[in-house]
Amino acid sequence: MKLRSHEWFGESGRNGFIHRSWMKAQGFSEEVFDGRPVIGICNTWSELTPCNAHLRRLAESVKRGVWQAGGFPVEFPVMSLGETMLRPTAMLFRNLLSMDVEESLRGNPVDAAVLLTGCDKTTPGSLMGAASVDLPTLVVTGGPMLNGKFRGCDIGSGTAVWQFTQDVNAGRMSEAEFAAAESGMSRSNGHCMTMGTASTMACMAEALGLQLPGSAAIPAVDSRRYGLAQRAGQRIVEMTHEDLRMSRVVSRASFANAIRANAALGGSTNAVIHLLAIAARLGVPLALDDFDAYTADVPWLVDLQPSGHYLMEDFYYAGGLPAVLRELLPLLDGDALTVTGATLEANVADAERSSDVIRPLGEPLGVGAGTAVLRGNLAPDGAVIKQSAASPHLLRHRGRALVFDSIEAYDAAVDDPALDVDADTVLVLQNAGPRGYPGMPEVGNMTIPRKLAEQGVEDVVRVSDARMSGTAYGTVVLHVCPESAVGGPLALVRTGDTVELDVPARRLHLDVPEDELARRRAEWQPPERPHDRGWARLYGDHVLQADQGCDLDFLVGQSGSAVGRQSH
Ligand code: FES
Ligand code: MG
Repeated sequence: MKLRSHEWFGESGRNGFIHRSWMKAQGFSEEVFDGRPVIGICNTWSELTPCNAHLRRLAESVKRGVWQAGGFPVEFPVMSLGETMLRPTAMLFRNLLSMDVEESLRGNPVDAAVLLTGCDKTTPGSLMGAASVDLPTLVVTGGPMLNGKFRGCDIGSGTAVWQFTQDVNAGRMSEAEFAAAESGMSRSNGHCMTMGTASTMACMAEALGLQLPGSAAIPAVDSRRYGLAQRAGQRIVEMTHEDLRMSRVVSRASFANAIRANAALGGSTNAVIHLLAIAARLGVPLALDDFDAYTADVPWLVDLQPSGHYLMEDFYYAGGLPAVLRELLPLLDGDALTVTGATLEANVADAERSSDVIRPLGEPLGVGAGTAVLRGNLAPDGAVIKQSAASPHLLRHRGRALVFDSIEAYDAAVDDPALDVDADTVLVLQNAGPRGYPGMPEVGNMTIPRKLAEQGVEDVVRVSDARMSGTAYGTVVLHVCPESAVGGPLALVRTGDTVELDVPARRLHLDVPEDELARRRAEWQPPERPHDRGWARLYGDHVLQADQGCDLDFLVGQSGSAVGRQSH
């Protein structure tokens, strides 16, 4: 089989000279141009993405495996997205990363791709780009940090920050203790070690069949991650010979498996948006309602923060994702193909569950506790709520709305002792959607107002067009569609209106007469666009709503790997 890299390195004459000669400048010998698979190692390493800071070392292990199997590894950087650093939100740039990955793969002489990812958006962004090129593709995530430690206890990335912030507000924790917790929380390489978005997307990549079995949970600093990365390097060379492209691995059945796995994991709501976007790149039909339909009967099996108690290190020792998938097999399509070349069922046949961090199928932590999709006059195109992270007593609730038109307005009011709020209030946040913010930040889990925290209130219903961090919790309705900045009904809510949430009935209702809503709609003015040049402008002009995955409209689908033109 002639590989696409042969169009560069196998050429005679001027072009072949140019392609080979400049590569030789790096000290490669003649044999690397003999037609062997060229494996692109697409690296989201950056010191500004601390979760991915060790990925260059991991790349060395992948390269070792590629050489071993007779391939030629070439590592290249792509844009990196550091969740904790990037303003105004890393999500604004997920699609930009996807374009970088897509064009870097298509434009270069590579036959296959290994995607090195970790921090939240780096996994879906890389997968979206690779899906549009459709080469043989294998994901190697960087793995979670070791468990955080503070005062002799385990503390989870993100989750403990939200908890400690409430504790400080309620006077249960001093500022000095709060500061001391910083160094204990993040004490090794790796991504957040709660079942936040990074851990969730690592598990999604594995459940989709795109990462070697067992990869998602191995701690970043565990030597076994490096061994597995070497194995991934070997396997991608075999996949190239087998022409096992991403579209041959991933089907609708793979997405159904991943969605069900996410419910069993108590995984992040962000997976909804990312999986919708990846599926749309591949042309696999997937809709927001599938997330509810596929998960209604799925037991919640994994006792990890933010919904449960433990952390990723515990999850790994308990058997990791293969043990969960084996428990779930009766509910999965075991015939779904994976990057191993074998089916999901074959991959997990020998997996063992070695502690109650992972519950057996018959003794779950709950059933149907996954992502519920809500609809109603407040969210005609849908909204989501993570049931396992919500307070049971608030899942059916009617309350008076207190409305904020920006997160800054909310932050300015949150400590006000005179804030007109009680335990039944529904906090409503507008203009935090994909177009409005822009980039749909993780601010939907608005901090509980200090006044309520001091009274011991730990949760209130919150409704917005924002996302929330996968490490966060609470009775938080997210991703309201259409968003307020495009004139969705969320824009029409006023302080004093009654909002009704009924999760069992999947309903989100604004109890205001239709003629009054029509009057407000006629008065509504779109907010001014915060940025009108560069990427933010392109994004604002083309971003799709959350129910369609927040991709840019012109990036949906595939263009394949052919270029058809020389560069000289
Ligand atoms: Fe990078 Fe949480 S901040 S994974
Ligand atoms: Mg996040």
